[in-house]
Amino acid sequence: MRGIILAGGSATRLYPATICLNKHLLPVYNKPMIYYPLSILMLAGIRDILLITGPRDIESFRGIFGTGERLGLKFSYAVQEKPNGLAEALIIGKEFSRGQDVCLILGDNIFFGHGLPALLKETVRGMKKQGGAYVFASNVQDPERYGIVEFDSRGVAISVEEKPKKPKSNWAVTGLYFFDKNCCEIAQGVKPSGRGELEITSVNEEYLKRGELHVNPIGRGFAWFDAGTHDSFLEASKFIATIETRTGYMVGCIEEIAFSRGWIKKDALLEMAETLKKTEYGKYLIKAARGD
Ligand code: G1P
Repeated sequence: MRGIILAGGSATRLYPATICLNKHLLPVYNKPMIYYPLSILMLAGIRDILLITGPRDIESFRGIFGTGERLGLKFSYAVQEKPNGLAEALIIGKEFSRGQDVCLILGDNIFFGHGLPALLKETVRGMKKQGGAYVFASNVQDPERYGIVEFDSRGVAISVEEKPKKPKSNWAVTGLYFFDKNCCEIAQGVKPSGRGELEITSVNEEYLKRGELHVNPIGRGFAWFDAGTHDSFLEASKFIATIETRTGYMVGCIEEIAFSRGWIKKDALLEMAETLKKTEYGKYLIKAARGD
């Protein structure tokens, strides 16, 4: 399975902070926003990753992750010329995914919850067995803002709609999608929506029509943020700060995940910690390397 992170868009809802800066590089508490979705791919065991962003920012991301080798990963990069919609990521990623299953995650989506790694692995297994598409749904109080899904007790989707005026449920489709090899072809058939974008919801609708849209509800015990507005951004930062200071565990610490999975050696982790040693982040990596 291959991973795609979409970190494009113009982030106008975060202006003026993002006039000259890609929002996914802004810090959510103590690390760049992009670390959080990357950590989700890593927790799912995905190491071959395509990062898609706008032409202005591609070199910044290359500057952070390079080839990915530092983290035991393999990074590729591609440009989305204009914010034409999320489904375009699957078209841009066609060469990269080469007919394999794909996990697409939006660069501004942050997930936290007990049992998340197990849920991700279970989803990867489900994909291998029966294909189709898997989405993760989170209960929200403002369903008009999201893709909304209705599903039965077995997690089979009944309906899916993008930003409905009269939502049929409060379950928002989060920005984490697992798709089988048919996704590129489906995305290529999508027509622009009223807001002029190739909607990922249209891809999900096609899987629904085929009876292949599976829903994993992430209920109580999970937190999900899409840090796209000033308020949701601050909310996410405060949440991460609270969890990390109270528990002593970091959320979205990609170096720690790489080490704990055995993808990098202790020396490599200590080397990365050295450059960060003035920060709590660096000290945390040193502790992780020592197994404290
Ligand atoms: C996008 C999707 C929407 C999904 C949301 C999750 O919304 O279109 O279906 O619920 O991401 O973050 P947008 O950020 O484009 O408003």
